Amino acid sequence: MATMIVVGAQWGDEGKGKIIHLLGKRADYIVRYQGGNNAGHTVVFDNKHFVLHQIPSGILQPAKKCLIANGVVLDPTSLREEITFLESRGIRVRGRLFISEWAHLILPYHKYLDALRESGEGKIGTTKRGIGPAYSDKVGRVGIRMADFMEPQTFQRLVEKNLEEKAPLLKQIVSLKKLRQETLSTANRLRSFLAPFVTDTSLILTEALHKGKDVLFEGAQGTLLDVDYGTYPYVTSSNPIAGAACVGSGIGPSAIDEVLGVVKAYTTRVGDGPFPTELHDKTGEFLRSRGQEFGATTGRPRRCGWFDGVVVRHAVRVNGFCRMALTKLDVLEGIDPIRVCVAYRYAGKTLRHFPASRVAQEKSVPVYKELPGFHGPVKGITRYENLPLLAKKYVSFLEREMGAPITLISMGRSRDETIFRDKKFRWRP
Ligand code: GDP
Ligand code: IMO
Ligand code: MG
Repeated sequence: MATMIVVGAQWGDEGKGKIIHLLGKRADYIVRYQGGNNAGHTVVFDNKHFVLHQIPSGILQPAKKCLIANGVVLDPTSLREEITFLESRGIRVRGRLFISEWAHLILPYHKYLDALRESGEGKIGTTKRGIGPAYSDKVGRVGIRMADFMEPQTFQRLVEKNLEEKAPLLKQIVSLKKLRQETLSTANRLRSFLAPFVTDTSLILTEALHKGKDVLFEGAQGTLLDVDYGTYPYVTSSNPIAGAACVGSGIGPSAIDEVLGVVKAYTTRVGDGPFPTELHDKTGEFLRSRGQEFGATTGRPRRCGWFDGVVVRHAVRVNGFCRMALTKLDVLEGIDPIRVCVAYRYAGKTLRHFPASRVAQEKSVPVYKELPGFHGPVKGITRYENLPLLAKKYVSFLEREMGAPITLISMGRSRDETIFRDKKFRWRP
């Protein structure tokens, strides 16, 4: 048996979808444990292109079982669309996808509340999928879970209660009568469609672990979007970090063998909030266009900047990464010199650790180390030895800065464009 948690080490969009799809070949189960349809995980293979939002990327590997566990917030309408879309592209979903009855739901009023907050002063640039309001309800103990959704009377009672409580805010932007109608009638339409998928995923997972199955936990978002350890309040409302995989899937920490961090060879961020190494110049634009840095969920252009060693060291620490998958190294080819942030300067001090203060996060000035760029065609290289010497030097420099070994290097979107450095890596497909 082997279990591995895969987590983004920056602000999301590190290329987790590709890595999960690649490693998923060896797994029996792939589990989403947090987040919702704010995620957009791109998988490219055999000239096909998919973006997964709520369903684990492992669904694209034939015969694997996929769990949407209790820590996820689930939008029933968009889930149905995702299932139907996958089926229309020839992917078998029934009998392979299991949804936790303990998972909380995103309902139409959560999306209105998200939009309302985003229209005001406190805007943080969310995906407007209702994620924050749904998690607020969960922690505020007024949330509605999949198990409640499956009981029409319980569901109606809880919806009425929620609408009454939220009426003062909601009536500013929507007719309450229309919203009530929309929420109840959509639920009635979706209940029988979703029923076959709904079960206790913690039980399924525990049984799988007892049988010695291989399990991958697919983190969504990234460490710097974590509600505890990210750039608060410019974060998502869940814990993407590895420690949350157990809570979010209903198993104990003793079941976890490995934690893999996925890290981009430079940095990107969508939405508002601090980003010390952000570039507002031609290099930033170049990274955006060469790296096709546009949101997989919202299509927004991603902000781009140099690799931030302070950020990733923080991620290595709070996740306990055993090893790293470095993605998009190909995008840096030809950029000369390359800069890597090794520390911050703030208030006359040099910081090696990511600061908690929101003012320090905003005002920190990166201290850069300049490295010579690498040149020549790197796309298609699948052996580490064949990388240009300066590319290898960049990789070694990042390892020292992060304090974790790079086991896998992604050199393109497709699963074939990958270098495995560690021959003993258990999850090598
Ligand atoms: P995720 O949210 O972490 O799964 O990442 P996204 O799918 O949102 O964004 C990553 C983007 O980079 C996608 O368009 C991937 O197809 C692409 N990608 C992943 N790995 C590589 C790579 O090594 N090189 C290049 N050029 N693109 C990559
Ligand atoms: P994947 O899984 C990048 C960002 C939003 C916003 C903040 C809060 O594809 O890496 P939310 O809608 O969650 O309340 O928005 O978090 N965000 C992401 N950024 N990748 C993601 O997911 C993201 N999911 C949310 O842009 O800044
Ligand atoms: Mg993404």
